[in-house]
Amino acid sequence: MKICTGIAPVNIAVIKYWGKKDEKLILPMNDSISGTLSTDEMHAKTSVALSPDFTEDKLWLNGKEVSIHQPRVAVCLSELRKLAQQKKSGGDMVHWKMHICSENNFPTAAGLASSAAGYSCLVFTIAHALGLDSSQVSHIARQGSGSACRSMFGGFVRWRALPSELEGKQSDGEESEDLRRKQSEASNAEQIISEAYWGSMRVIILVVNDQAKSTSSTDGMQRTTLTSTLYTHRVHTVVPERCERMETALNEKDFATFAQLTMQDSNQFHACCLDTYPPIVYMNDTSHAVVRFVHEFNTVAGGTKVAYTFDAGPNACLYLLEDSVPLLLSTLVQYFPASSEISVPYVRGLKYSTT
Ligand code: DP6
Repeated sequence: MKICTGIAPVNIAVIKYWGKKDEKLILPMNDSISGTLSTDEMHAKTSVALSPDFTEDKLWLNGKEVSIHQPRVAVCLSELRKLAQQKKSGGDMVHWKMHICSENNFPTAAGLASSAAGYSCLVFTIAHALGLDSSQVSHIARQGSGSACRSMFGGFVRWRALPSELEGKQSDGEESEDLRRKQSEASNAEQIISEAYWGSMRVIILVVNDQAKSTSSTDGMQRTTLTSTLYTHRVHTVVPERCERMETALNEKDFATFAQLTMQDSNQFHACCLDTYPPIVYMNDTSHAVVRFVHEFNTVAGGTKVAYTFDAGPNACLYLLEDSVPLLLSTLVQYFPASSEISVPYVRGLKYSTT
């Protein structure tokens, strides 16, 4: 028997992924960029046991057995086994059944990137058990949950959409099989900025509500791609240029530009959700109060010191530099007293970095 345990971090997008070109392969409509958090406070943990004596694959999620046949889990397992066979890695273990236990130490499905950490951990741990290079399997994590491919690396990470030369009409037969494999392998994540390069970057997460969201990302993005005209403009005109400007800001450690692009991208993503028909509303009154707070804080500070960003939920993620943390936290506690919706014990100062 072989047993491996892995821990994987959460990532918070500063240029958002929303919408797929291919639902099955999870090929995104646009590139996205995120920062990966340290695993100190929030992480997923997966243990995998492989044995020639197991008769079937099994999966436990947060202590409860769930079906291993969920399509996204099944595809990750079969892709990892196929790759191991192709690379002649893992020996006989490729044919052994697995028992997998996975858990998050933070609320699941509340728009806090739990599926990103969960799938990246699953793929990372199994890849490790089968002797595969984990830096080469982000395209497999992507097939669990798109954003999971970015949690396979630390620092700032860019997930690239399919290059245009690989886009093509699907047809049946071997040629199509070959094209799909190439397409799948071509959309992967890469580190663009190491965690050490901008070591003073910090993220604070304000948990406004830790209940599961009403519209899943998967369903929400499907509806947006079908109905939002603002989204078409975002994908084709705004995001390509914004990604380039974001990479430059990160390379130059230009916090003001980084922060402005981050906030604008979050605002446009939520505007697209509202432009979806019927509309999708992820942010609540408290989220909007956090937006006002950040802009007031920046005005009083005389420059952009903090950026907010919201994923598919009401919780706020604040990016800021280490030297702004004490003032931000003390002002925040005054602005949102204990009676407010933001739960102060949940204010987490996360050191940005990864394992
Ligand atoms: C708003 O990766 O959860 O957090 O690929 O359908 O599993 P699926 O979606 P998922 O979507 C994340 C969307 C987002 C933005 C982002 O992380 O880039």
